[in-house]
Amino acid sequence: MPQEYRLILKNIDQPGYTPDLDCYLRHGGYEALRKALAIQAKTSPEGKTTSAQEHIRDEVKISGLRGRGGAGFSCGLKWSFVDRKSGKPIYLICNADESEPGTFKDRQIIHKDPHQMIEGMIISCFANDVHLAYIYIRGEFPEGACILNRALAEARAKNLLGKNILGGGYDLEIYVHRGAGAYICGEETGLIESLEGKRPYPRIKPPYFPAVLGLYMSPTIVNNVETLCAVKHIIAMGGAEFAKLGTPNNTGTRIVSISGHVRKPGYYEVEVGKATIGEMIFHFAGGLQEGRKLKAVIPGGSSAKVFKAGERFKLKRKGPEGKDVEQEVDLLDLPYDFDSLMAAGSMSGSGAIVVLDDSTDIVEALANIAEFYAHESCGQCTPCREGSLWMSKALHRLTHGEGRKQDADYLLRIADNIPGGRTICAFGEACSWPVQSFVRKFKDEFEAKGAAAEGRQKQTAGAGPTPEMKLAASPQ
Ligand SMILES: Cc1cc2nc3c(=O)[nH]c(=O)nc-3n(C[C@H](O)[C@H](O)[C@H](O)COP(=O)(O)O)c2cc1C
Ligand code: SF4
Repeated sequence: MPQEYRLILKNIDQPGYTPDLDCYLRHGGYEALRKALAIQAKTSPEGKTTSAQEHIRDEVKISGLRGRGGAGFSCGLKWSFVDRKSGKPIYLICNADESEPGTFKDRQIIHKDPHQMIEGMIISCFANDVHLAYIYIRGEFPEGACILNRALAEARAKNLLGKNILGGGYDLEIYVHRGAGAYICGEETGLIESLEGKRPYPRIKPPYFPAVLGLYMSPTIVNNVETLCAVKHIIAMGGAEFAKLGTPNNTGTRIVSISGHVRKPGYYEVEVGKATIGEMIFHFAGGLQEGRKLKAVIPGGSSAKVFKAGERFKLKRKGPEGKDVEQEVDLLDLPYDFDSLMAAGSMSGSGAIVVLDDSTDIVEALANIAEFYAHESCGQCTPCREGSLWMSKALHRLTHGEGRKQDADYLLRIADNIPGGRTICAFGEACSWPVQSFVRKFKDEFEAKGAAAEGRQKQTAGAGPTPEMKLAASPQ
């Protein structure tokens, strides 16, 4: 059985471990920053000079680190896109919005080990010639914002931030910015708009790729809390050592939030791809309640496509001779990594597994998710604004005894017409994927609910008004 591999969570939840700077320093805190600041420029025998900053960026590339915020995009590659010749300042933003339902890992870091995140940020800023950075934290984390401000003040007082950090000649300031509680502020361009003091309307890409035209139309790096923490460990252990953790193309560790119908909901840090979905649910999270059976799994936050218990997938794997061979895999044997989940038609997204057992009314579950998305659409694009609302309304009537059998097809028709380049941002996909997958995989339940409601509506129409209806209609 795989074990937890606590790299980022190493000290978190240990007895006596506190979020203050002294405690962090006692546990080797800011040593990776000292190491980074001490790196010297090197000149190869061919005469090519690599600066300390380039060296760190190379280490991050070598580590194979993929972003932990949702898309799993290569961190090293993202940093390589930054326009370093524009003459404008380069900004870095730590995305601490943690708004994807089911996700609760970043808040653990913020609350229990804020200096780890700040150290990761300082190293990342140094590596990218950033002198001003922001932590964008969701409005619902007021305590987290206080903890971070306290930690930043402690860091300033010890010259870990500010002018001439640790005497190394590097200046950096970091500010905390609180959101006002909107899911779309987690989307990086919506976040940037919000940070600029505007409505968080996502920007269209191209041209507004943050690496070129981000905050104040300047090159900007947006990385998730966990991604930035991983950078600290990459510098501490070296990119190649980090790459040995996890599995090829899915390196390092990942903090997975597990919730829903499990005995031990919580956050578990594992080497990426070393545990299967079955092990995450039944080993780490303690399995289901007595007598219950697995019905479905949402593998990467509420926007990820749902898996149905018993589903099987065809995956390409390396055979004994190193050649790719196709293998059929049961849902529970699916490795929990970026590539396997994508090959199975979903995603590991924000690393949040939501487990649904056989007591779940699947139509109710989807109605709940759809209501969230209808509420959170920013409204700029017609397919997303109208479509998310229509889907939510159809699901509302299905769950309130007023649905129709054909609502299942109606939902699919709407959901299939939102994504695919019709919207400005990926929210279009995020609101459609749950509907597409829930309805396709559990269509009988949606149709049965609609048909039952239709039957009741016919009966009621045939029977005429009930005494209650007559009373309600009569003048008082
Ligand atoms: C609708 C939507 C919501 C998002 N919410 C978050 C979030 O809460 N936190 C986060 O880190 N990334 C979120 N993302 C992803 C960010 O846009 C961005 O890709 C990420 O912060 C990049 O960090 P990473 O490369 O370290 O993963 C969201 C994306 C979309 C489309
Ligand atoms: S897809 Fe939805 S959330 Fe994204 S910009 Fe368009 S309306 Fe706003």
